Amino acid sequence: MTAAAKIKNIPEHRHNLKVRRMDFEFSDDIPEFWYGNDPFRTLLMAAMSAGFPEGERFFIDSVRQFRDRITDPELQQAVSAFIGQEAHHSKEHDVLNTLMKKRGYNIGRIERGVRGAMKMFRTKFSPERQLAHTAAVEHFTALMSEQYLLNEEILSEFDPRMVTLWAWHAIEETEHKAVAFDVYKTIGGDEWTRLSAMAMASVLFVGFTSYDFYTLVRESGHAGDAKMWLKGLDYYWGRKGVFRKMIPAYLQYYRRDFHPWQHDSRAQVERIKQKYLGDKA
Ligand SMILES: [Fe+2]
Ligand SMILES: [Fe+2]
Repeated sequence: MTAAAKIKNIPEHRHNLKVRRMDFEFSDDIPEFWYGNDPFRTLLMAAMSAGFPEGERFFIDSVRQFRDRITDPELQQAVSAFIGQEAHHSKEHDVLNTLMKKRGYNIGRIERGVRGAMKMFRTKFSPERQLAHTAAVEHFTALMSEQYLLNEEILSEFDPRMVTLWAWHAIEETEHKAVAFDVYKTIGGDEWTRLSAMAMASVLFVGFTSYDFYTLVRESGHAGDAKMWLKGLDYYWGRKGVFRKMIPAYLQYYRRDFHPWQHDSRAQVERIKQKYLGDKA
């Protein structure tokens, strides 16, 4: 039994991952604001997308360096699939990032920033802390997927040519949400490193994403658009705001007995898979 399997209330066979090869092409007639026809929402997603390729390469390496310490065959297989999934996400988000570059957004600056931060993590952090960082950011991507994107109403607001990228990525983030976490538990990672890595990842992720997002808004010419700011801030942080609603689920990570699969999202993901990826029921 793996260390993670001793945690209560998690499905035994939770690692059910499939590597799906996609090949997106985004045509020039996709509107500039391809999510909700809204600069705020579109550019927030674009800021995240800009950081994905470099970030995901780091996630892959941080998990891969512990591969030979995993004896559970199911987790071993999950690690291979995790690496495959993240590698494909990087490749496909590069396609979106290229589209945004063509439209005059300085995505290269964001990429260089994330590359620099990841290089610093690789040289300054222990392998265990690098893995803890990955497990922490994977909690963010799982929250973004389960509490936000994997929802038909939300997805219907994306341009139809862009929606599959986001649905596919969110589905796979949910499928592999516990892989880095389970590897961390398997190698006997300690609680202080796990929790302090989450605290640090939260500050960096929120701080850098907000800044990068702001630079894109400035480049779009909407920085002075008060109506856009009010609407966007209300959408994410207002009384019923998407991010505000995520806070309780975010905080669960700090519990000693936390495990990503205590929130069983398989039924929710299944519906979205069938609709957007054509997976069979
Ligand atoms: Fe990913
Ligand atoms: Fe991921």
